[in-house]
Amino acid sequence: MSDIDEKQKRIDEILVAIPTARDERELENLRIQAIGKKGANTELLSMLGSMSIEERKHYGPRFNANTANVTSAVSLRKGQLAEEAMNARLASERIDVTLPPRPEPRGTIHPVSQVLDEVTAIFADLGFAVAEGPDIEFDDYNFTKLNIPPDHPARQMHDTFYVARQADGSQHVLRTHTSPVQVRTMLKKKPPIRIVAPGRTYRVDSDATHSPMFHQYEGLVVDENISLGHLKWVLEEFYKAFFEVDSVELRARPSYFPFTEPSVEWDLRCDRSVQGQIKFGTGNDWLELAGSGMVHPRVLSMCGIDPKRYSGFAFGGGVDRLAMLKYGIPDIRPFFESDLRWLKHFGFAALDVPTLDGGLSR
Ligand code: DAH
Repeated sequence: MSDIDEKQKRIDEILVAIPTARDERELENLRIQAIGKKGANTELLSMLGSMSIEERKHYGPRFNANTANVTSAVSLRKGQLAEEAMNARLASERIDVTLPPRPEPRGTIHPVSQVLDEVTAIFADLGFAVAEGPDIEFDDYNFTKLNIPPDHPARQMHDTFYVARQADGSQHVLRTHTSPVQVRTMLKKKPPIRIVAPGRTYRVDSDATHSPMFHQYEGLVVDENISLGHLKWVLEEFYKAFFEVDSVELRARPSYFPFTEPSVEWDLRCDRSVQGQIKFGTGNDWLELAGSGMVHPRVLSMCGIDPKRYSGFAFGGGVDRLAMLKYGIPDIRPFFESDLRWLKHFGFAALDVPTLDGGLSR
């Protein structure tokens, strides 16, 4: 076989090998062997110079065709290899966004936060707006404007944490109840008023069912022609939704609060005959749940609302207590001890937000 035929044979082999080259390196190697500086076809081209015109006419176009064939075959294969690499990368970096998050969220929602969310969800559904006030409150709002003047005996009932008197003589306290949010709301807004105010409260008290820091929710409705009947209906709706039962029975007991007249405490019918269990809506036991009453006319006028035109009802209760009852937690002290085992046991899934449609607690 002549030198030319041998080289042409090599080039033809290379043309066969190119479409199956496994990677860029193998492909580049084949290209160099064919049309690199010392490649077979480069050598063939350099032989043209010493050929006769006839031979040159015969071989010239063939050798040039070799260059063109190798170049286009290499570029075709290069494109295929690049596409294969991209496909492999897309497959390996693929993310299924429908999979659940990993790792599972480890934090839990504290039962108090859960119940605060449940309470606000229920009252929001009844058309109440959420109102808030500060934990450090004016003595005036916590007591005086709620018809508890400085020497009133009811101040003793509250075991107040006093804050050092300010230079201007003003006195602050850690609020002993959420009722001052009533004052703040009425001073700021004209009726109709419909608010629920959840939040922290403080009293010098500590045992299995009392913590010096605890939580209350407060309700206030002020409008024309508001009566105790409205109050009873709202509380019934609230307890039904909160305890997730079809019906509840409330018992009214006359009571005394300086800021309401008349004042009523509400008990809820329940069944505690099975040790460690509680059922609502049936049974022969009664559970004290909320203080309430018709807003005292003096409170209305001290807060800038005309008691001749408007009346209102108010109610308030303990959030921690609701959490203990609903979720069967016997002792209030671990609520605020940050014990991870307790939090894990009594905590709620972080991503389940309580709603009336979706379910309050799952
Ligand atoms: N603030 C009262 C307490 O902490 C509870 C209360 C009673 C709130 C009657 C009210 C109410 O709004 O009308 O004991």
